Amino acid sequence: MSDFIDLCLRRQSCRNFAVKPVEHEKLVNCVEAGRLAPSGCNGQPWSFVVVESPAIVAEVAKCGQQNGMNQFLANAGAFIVVLEEHAVLMPGIRKMLDSQYFAKGDLGAATVQVCLEAETQGLGSCIIGIYDRDELCKLLDIPVGKNFAALIAIGYAADSKVRAKARKPLEQITRFV
Ligand SMILES: Cc1cc2nc3c(=O)[nH]c(=O)nc-3n(C[C@H](O)[C@H](O)[C@H](O)COP(=O)(O)O)c2cc1C
Repeated sequence: MSDFIDLCLRRQSCRNFAVKPVEHEKLVNCVEAGRLAPSGCNGQPWSFVVVESPAIVAEVAKCGQQNGMNQFLANAGAFIVVLEEHAVLMPGIRKMLDSQYFAKGDLGAATVQVCLEAETQGLGSCIIGIYDRDELCKLLDIPVGKNFAALIAIGYAADSKVRAKARKPLEQITRFV
C-alpha cells in the first residue's frame, strides 16, 4: 500500500475531539496545503478563514449545531472556512468558459488537502455540511451571499481508533479500458 493510501485510510471524519487547543503553526500548514491545491487554469478560486480564538471557535461551533446536530463540535479546537472567490482565468480561456466553471472541483480539492494536512500533523478534521451561513457571515465578517465551499472542524481526536472505510468496491465504480 502506498503512503498516500495509508494517509487516506487514516483520515476520517473526527466526531470526538479532545479539549485541547490546536497550535497556530499547524493551522497555517493546513491552509498552506489548501493553497497548494490544483485548480482549473490555476484560477485558485478560494480564500480561507482560520478560526482559532477560543471565543469565536465556540460561536462557530454553535452555527454547526442546528437542530441538535453535530454536538461534537463543542470540543473542536479550531475551524477553517473555505470560501469561493472569483477564479482568475487567462483571457483566452475566459472567452470560452464562465470564470467559475472549474470552481466546484477546485474548492473540493483545496478542502481535502486541508483535511489531509491536518491528518499528517496528527489532527482530526470533519467537514460540516449543514450550518447557519448567515450567522457565520456575521461572526466572521464575511459578505452576505458569499459562497461557502466548506466549514472544516479541526482538533485533536480524543480516541485514536481508525474506523474501517465504508466505500463502494473499486470494481463497482471503475472501468479499465
Ligand atoms: C460536504 C460534506 C459535508 C459533511 N457534513 C457532515 C456533517 O455535517 N456532520 C458530520 O458528522 N459529518 C459530515 N461529513 C462527513 C461525512 O459523513 C464523511 O466524510 C463520510 O461519512 C465518510 O466518512 P469518513 O470521512 O470518516 O471517511 C461531511 C462530509 C462532506 C464531504
